Amino acid sequence: MLDGIQKFNEQGVEEKKKYYTRDNMRRVRFNSNYDLFRSRTASWRDTLNISFSDPDQNDSEELPALCRKSTVEYSKHVWELGNILFGLLSESLGLKPEQLRNMDCSKGQRLTCHYYPACPEPELALGIAKHSDPGFLTVLLQNQINGLQIFFQNQWVDVQPIRGALVINIGDLLQLVSNGKFRSNKHRVAANRLGPRISVACFFSGPINMDKVFYGPIEELISEENPPIYKEVLLSDYLMKFIAAGLDDNFLVNYFKE
Ligand code: OGA
Ligand code: NI
Repeated sequence: MLDGIQKFNEQGVEEKKKYYTRDNMRRVRFNSNYDLFRSRTASWRDTLNISFSDPDQNDSEELPALCRKSTVEYSKHVWELGNILFGLLSESLGLKPEQLRNMDCSKGQRLTCHYYPACPEPELALGIAKHSDPGFLTVLLQNQINGLQIFFQNQWVDVQPIRGALVINIGDLLQLVSNGKFRSNKHRVAANRLGPRISVACFFSGPINMDKVFYGPIEELISEENPPIYKEVLLSDYLMKFIAAGLDDNFLVNYFKE
């Protein structure tokens, strides 16, 4: 997967520009800083986004040739892993293992493939500004170049890449449906004099075709002692709000407090 993304980015601009767009409705999108005109600063990276609405989606001709096969195959594996993780997360909330899956949390998949070139002045730049992920859950694959940091006990802590390991992040929507029992984590990517750093974030953010899909705190988690902290949200509205704001001031769940 990482190799395919490296090859895609390192080919000539003529081939890459076929995929360049800022239209968020497109299934395959290649650009630099989706929030370029909304954030206060630009970040040191290029990104290829690919959405999958189900694991057997077979119209893969739309995907760039150099990473087509690996992306389709990787997507299937992450799908399986996602389903396992949602089962475990449900159980740890004291719910039936299939509860989060039945709510379609694992329905759509957005692969966000980042390429962070070596940066000559890393102290003046960021790869990605501080944020939490908007969806339910993120499965992150990274190569061996440092950069990812999480905000923990009031300071930035490096997440050292471990070969063969994946990083799992809780997103804002899981915070919302779990009524605050799970907390999304704040993270960012520092720029690095070494590169390229390559990462693939797989966001599980609910169904891709999301007409009239609502999410709110799960009923079983609400009681007199645990009143709902968040309002119910319309998924399309929620993700639109995320895209419309700059990444650097996106602490989305706060908008939806009761
Ligand atoms: C993201 C993200 C981290 C990384 O895409 O939301 O946090 O390591 N990526 O690229
Ligand atoms: Ni993130």
